[in-house]
Amino acid sequence: MKPLPSYYELPSGDKIPSVALGVWKASKGQVGQAVKHALKTGYRHIDGAWIYGNEEEVGKAIGESGVPRGDLWITSKLWNDFHAPEDVEAALDVSLKALNTEYLDLYLIHWPIAFKKGTREVDHSLTENVYPTWQALEKLVDKGKVRNIGVSNFNIARMKNLTANPLKYTPAVNQVELSFWNPQPSLISWAKENHLLLEAYSPLGGDGQVGNSLRVPEVQEIAKEVGITPAQVIISWLAQRGSVVLPKSVTPSRIDENLQVYELPQDLFEKLEKAAEGHEPKRTVNPSKGVGLGYDVFDEGWPFGQ
Ligand SMILES: NC(=O)c1ccc[n+]([C@@H]2O[C@H](COP(=O)([O-])OP(=O)(O)OC[C@H]3O[C@@H](n4cnc5c(N)ncnc54)[C@H](OP(=O)(O)O)[C@@H]3O)[C@@H](O)[C@H]2O)c1
Repeated sequence: MKPLPSYYELPSGDKIPSVALGVWKASKGQVGQAVKHALKTGYRHIDGAWIYGNEEEVGKAIGESGVPRGDLWITSKLWNDFHAPEDVEAALDVSLKALNTEYLDLYLIHWPIAFKKGTREVDHSLTENVYPTWQALEKLVDKGKVRNIGVSNFNIARMKNLTANPLKYTPAVNQVELSFWNPQPSLISWAKENHLLLEAYSPLGGDGQVGNSLRVPEVQEIAKEVGITPAQVIISWLAQRGSVVLPKSVTPSRIDENLQVYELPQDLFEKLEKAAEGHEPKRTVNPSKGVGLGYDVFDEGWPFGQ
């Protein structure tokens, strides 16, 4: 089978590897081994975040791997507590120090949800208008601390809301949940029309749904027909839709397996697309209720929360 492209080119000209090792829920004591194994096996892209609480161990593993920094793609994310423009650089500095690096390849606004500093209270002004936070990120690019900036968990309305501003740098990516259960065809089309690269998180459905994902009849059938594993079918399909894919695993054999993506024959690609779009979409990650937002953060209605 033909391999799929190993990277995408961003507006900055940087090349982002198309499959990453995700490290959410990769616990302390496990994550370092997983990162080292991944780098040995050929991964060059690690998708992390400050809130995952494991950046120090990730940084140490990267250092010990012997892979030159310039060959690596490291992503981290700005947590909700630090959206006030004056807090953004200090938050980045904490991640840089933990990761033991001078710069990030990509820094994302983790959620379009801001908290008032030192509280669990939503800051509705910075939640509904992310531009002041974005401008603080743009300054980090100018300072050379971050090579590319982007967003995560933004729906179409929020993308439009942000990009209506006079941006110095447009978002390089939008990292969102994309899986068999939540395929988001409208967001995929919008992103294509607007030359925005999407990154697929929880591609296997997350730890609660991975078993069900791998047992989907169409996934099983395609796996048998082309001679790859069910996880490879799903990751290949998501990559073939044009997204970066971010599978997480701390298991060496699965880490190896997840990096091998292939171009599915068009009829099989369409078969899986049809099956994914043929059921009610279901998200695995949505903190709206938990943070007391008062409305669904993925609601496409504008103004938000009305
Ligand atoms: N921006 C955001 O808000 C956001 C939200 C969620 C996730 N993410 C990113 O996306 C990454 C992946 O998402 P996720 O961790 O939710 O879900 P996922 O990658 O869809 O699923 C991870 C689960 O699948 C298992 N697994 C991995 N490969 C497998 C294989 N080949 N066969 C069988 N089981 C396999 C893992 O087990 P083992 O580890 O035990 O092998 C783990 O239980 C995260 O690590 C993070 O980087 C971002």
